[in-house]
Amino acid sequence: MLIGGQRRNGSNGDHIEVRDPATGAVIESVAAGTPSDASAAVDVAARAQGEWAHTAPRERSELLRAGWQTMVDHTDELAELIVRENGKPLADARGEVAYAAEFFRWNAEETVRIRGEIGVSPSGDKRMIVHHPPVGVVVMVTPWNFPAAMITRKLAPALGAGNAVVIKPPAETPLTALRVAELLEGVGLPPGLVNVVPTTTSGAWFDAAVDNIHTRMVSFTGSTEVGRILLRRCADRVLKTVMELGGNAPFVVFDDADLDAAVDGAMVAKMRHSAETCTAANRFYVEAGIADDFTQALAVAMGEIRIGNGLEEGVTCGPLINAQAVTDVDGLVNQALEAGATPVLAGGPVDGPGYFYRPTVLGGVDHSSPIAHAEIFGPVAPVITFTDTDTMIEQANDTEMGLTGYVYTADLARGLKVSERIHAGMIGLNRGAISDPAAPFGGMKESGLGREGSTHGIYEFCETQYIATNW
Ligand code: SIN
Repeated sequence: MLIGGQRRNGSNGDHIEVRDPATGAVIESVAAGTPSDASAAVDVAARAQGEWAHTAPRERSELLRAGWQTMVDHTDELAELIVRENGKPLADARGEVAYAAEFFRWNAEETVRIRGEIGVSPSGDKRMIVHHPPVGVVVMVTPWNFPAAMITRKLAPALGAGNAVVIKPPAETPLTALRVAELLEGVGLPPGLVNVVPTTTSGAWFDAAVDNIHTRMVSFTGSTEVGRILLRRCADRVLKTVMELGGNAPFVVFDDADLDAAVDGAMVAKMRHSAETCTAANRFYVEAGIADDFTQALAVAMGEIRIGNGLEEGVTCGPLINAQAVTDVDGLVNQALEAGATPVLAGGPVDGPGYFYRPTVLGGVDHSSPIAHAEIFGPVAPVITFTDTDTMIEQANDTEMGLTGYVYTADLARGLKVSERIHAGMIGLNRGAISDPAAPFGGMKESGLGREGSTHGIYEFCETQYIATNW
C-alpha cells in the first residue's frame, strides 16, 4: 500500500492475490490494509492537506497537468496493467488510460476557475462573500471495471480543490491504482496527498476510515446495494457524499432510425469495456416495424465479437471479472429463456480457464422478465418489442435506476422529447458513447447523488462558506 509516500505492508502482514481474469492465475500480490491502516492513512492525509489547501490554484493546476502528461507518457504500461488485472481488451484499456488522464487535464483547467460570489444583501445592511474552500480529507472507494478512470474522475477534482485523499481500490484491481499514485508522486505531488490502501476487509476498513475525525467526505462508485450501506455509515458522521451507483439503461430504437447507426451505437453502448459498465445498454426497446431487422443485425454484430485474452491481437471482448460474474449473467439469461425469450444469438459460459461468457442476443423478451430489471454487467442484449411510445416510456422508467438512457430516431424533435421523458442523468441521443470528462456524469433516482466531471465535479469536493461583512 502507499501511505505518506511510503510503500508499506499491512500492519498484520496480510496480502491480496491479484488474479488475471483471462486465466484465473495469480499475477501479483499486494499488501492488504487493516482498519488501523485505513485510519492511519486518514491521519497522514489530514497532515498533508493543511499545507496543500493553501497552495496557489495555479500550482495545483500545474501538478494536475503534469499528472495528465505522465499518464499519457505511460499509456503502454498502464494499459497492459489494466488488461492483466481487469481483462478488458488492450484497445479499451488504452482508451481508458486516455479517458482517465483527461480528468487531470480537464480539472487542471477547472482548478484555476473555482468561482466565488460577492453581493449586497437585499436590505443593504452588509456585503455577502461566498467562496469555496476544500472539504478536507476525502475517502474514495472505487470499482474494478475502470481501474484507472474511476479513480482519476474523483482524484483530479479532489486534489484541484485542495483536498487530500485515501483510496480503497477494489481487491480485484489494486495494481493500477498504486501505479497511478506512484506516477503522481513522480511528477512532484507532495507525499501524503494520495494514499492507497487496498484491503480484503472492506466493511471494517470503511468503518475505520469513516470514524476517523479527519474524514469529511466519501466518494463512491459501485453498486446501489453497497452505496446504500455506505450512505448509512456516512450519516453517522454527517459526511458529504458523492455516489455513482448502478444503472439499468434502456436503449430505444424507433422505426425511423438509421438501422446501421443504431446497431453501431448499440454495440458501443452494450459492449464497451467488455460490457462491464454501469452506463451499458441493459434493455433494448425496439419499435415493431424495425424490431426483426434490428435484432438480426445486432445478433450478427454480436456474433462477430472475438472473446479472449485482452492482450491478444483482434480480441474485442475480454473475460468477466470472476467466476461469480459468469454465474450471475448466466442465471439472468436462463431466467429470460424460461420466461419465453428466444435465443437469437445463443452464447453462454465458456469452460475455464478464465471467466468468459459468449455474447448473447435474446429476442421476444417481455418487460416483466427479471433480465429487464437487473443490471446485467455482461455481453447479453435482451430485445423487447414495442408499439406504443407512452407504454414504452413507462417501461423504460419502470426501474429505481436512472443513470443512462439511449434513443435512436431520425426525428430530432421526437428524440429530444423522449430523452426528456426518460428519468436518467445521461442520455445518448443517436449516440452510443456519452462519457466525457467535460460532461456531468451521474444518475437520478437510486443511481446516485452528485455529479462527477464537467464544471460541476470540482465543486462536489468544496465546501461553501459565506462571510457577512461591511466596509
Ligand atoms: C462506469 O461504468 O462506472 C463508468 C462508465 C464510464 O465512465 O463511461
